[in-house]
Amino acid sequence: MCGIVGYVGHRDATPILLEGLHRLEYRGYDSAGIAVVNRGKLRVTKAAVRVAELRSLVGDGYPANIGLAHTRWATHGEPTERNAHPHVDPDGRVAVVHNGIIENADQLRAKLTAEGATFASDTDTEVLAHLVAARVWDGAESLEDAVRAALWEVEGAYGIVVLDVRNPGELVVARNGSPIVLGIGDSEMFVASDLAALVRHTQQVVYLDDGELATLRTDGYRTSTLQARRTDKTPTVVELTDSDYALDGFPDYMRKEIAEQPEAVRRALLGRLDERFSTARLDGLRMDPHELRSVQRVKFLGCGSAFYAGQIGADLVEQLARIPADAESASEFRYRNPVVDGDTLYVAVSQSGETADTLAAVQELRRKGGRVIGVVNAVGSAIARECGSGVFLHAGPEVSVASTKAVTNMSTCFALLALLLGRVRDLSVADGRRIVAGLDALPDRIEEAIEAEDHIAEIARRFAGARSMFFVGRVRGWPVAREGAQKLKEISYVHAEAYQAGELKHGPIALIDAQMPSVVIVPDDELLAKNIGTIEQIKARGGPVIAVTNAMLPSGLADAEIRVPHVTEELDPILFGIPLQLLAYHLAVALGRDIDKPRNLAKSVTVE
Ligand code: F6R
Repeated sequence: MCGIVGYVGHRDATPILLEGLHRLEYRGYDSAGIAVVNRGKLRVTKAAVRVAELRSLVGDGYPANIGLAHTRWATHGEPTERNAHPHVDPDGRVAVVHNGIIENADQLRAKLTAEGATFASDTDTEVLAHLVAARVWDGAESLEDAVRAALWEVEGAYGIVVLDVRNPGELVVARNGSPIVLGIGDSEMFVASDLAALVRHTQQVVYLDDGELATLRTDGYRTSTLQARRTDKTPTVVELTDSDYALDGFPDYMRKEIAEQPEAVRRALLGRLDERFSTARLDGLRMDPHELRSVQRVKFLGCGSAFYAGQIGADLVEQLARIPADAESASEFRYRNPVVDGDTLYVAVSQSGETADTLAAVQELRRKGGRVIGVVNAVGSAIARECGSGVFLHAGPEVSVASTKAVTNMSTCFALLALLLGRVRDLSVADGRRIVAGLDALPDRIEEAIEAEDHIAEIARRFAGARSMFFVGRVRGWPVAREGAQKLKEISYVHAEAYQAGELKHGPIALIDAQMPSVVIVPDDELLAKNIGTIEQIKARGGPVIAVTNAMLPSGLADAEIRVPHVTEELDPILFGIPLQLLAYHLAVALGRDIDKPRNLAKSVTVE
């Protein structure tokens, strides 16, 4: 949420910073800004615009070898030019870019105002610029000391980069709850909130931990804690390169990432299927068979689509391992003083590995002695590091705000986990073999599901005039329906509500009429007749039905039918997600929406 980038080195900072912002724009796009030091002065350009327009405003810019930049998703203060980052102290000497929320900003602002300060914005970040500048004036020995002293006064979450014109050779950065990654170049240093802005320049990175600061200079970096204790960080070499973020001819990242799913699932399965023993190999769990057998319950925790994927995971665990399992939104779990039980395996699910609510749930669990593993896409992320063990999704970088390939890989990895838990209990060899074969076939079936795109696009255009839609599913189809409604809402802004098929008649069926289409999930399973009954109930009230199915439905039952390939009953929900992604995508395209930058949203919600 919000993108930060900074540079110090021998090259011109402006194009590097603008290119970095362009890569980070998916993290927030309300406003953008840049500050560089040129001829001993801070030169700041910022506005409530997208990065491309900022680029035009900056033009050739000022020659500079140091600078910082920001693309914003508003938390404190409206998305206006005055609230755009960077924020500068009244003397125009200290510039700050910030991700996160300073919780005691109002108190600090009142205190500074009483001391005579005036503020130029409504943001919490400007308070930081004032505090750091005051410490510099008070004679702090270094910019790092000034930042450290300022941060002692601050409560809340931050990832910051600070620049002071009187120290034009260094940037100071700090992290507490919002990601900061250093990129080590050849006589140059980079910093960003996300690898996407770094991998064009370097594969050598250092992840800052919470409570850590770093000073970056052309010739390297130094890290320390808030208590001024030096920390020795070994750089990590990342495998990602700039080409992993290329659009490769696709119109947008969402469409590209939908197309990448067969390959992404192949990567998630690579080396993890054990055909000999009809089970899964998940070495990253670091659990031996005895520990696996000691698990009495499984609880999946995540937010948004990760939560819905967790529901598919819970169904898979119950079906394959016969262990009670459920999913809960991490944002609720963290605040309701949950009973933490030593026999439960908690599974924290996150694409970004940075979602604040999921991270807080993990921390709460660890504080209470819970056994928690991470199912995470971003290697090196806070949740992955906090959990210490788990399963990486290997989906590759996901840029589209609407998650697709990461969600599919989550369910795939849950199937592996469920298989492993099942095979140390009473899942038979034959059933294990069937699931292994199903997983093995999954990438090809996903490819087939994507081949129905033209037909799905046609249906999407047909129903693009709907103001609201129901997504209806039962048991295995229920989390699929929830995720389908979520995708449609977030990128098309068409209201969508997911309902359990059996619950429809207990109230919401009152909404059914010719203007309210329902997307009904109909797997070819033991509940087929029930789901056909649901369609008939909707049709009887004049509601149009789009059936998403791998069963043979009576002809003419639904107004439109989307066929889904079949692998094996338990794994079919993974496949059902694909056409729903395409339906949401093409409906949003038909409405002319900005697919990769849906309004009010941003990738990675690192604030509460
Ligand atoms: C929806 C979507 C969000 C995320 C949620 C959790 O398409 O992307 O609902 O699933 O914000 O994000 P992660 O998985 O990064 O924790």
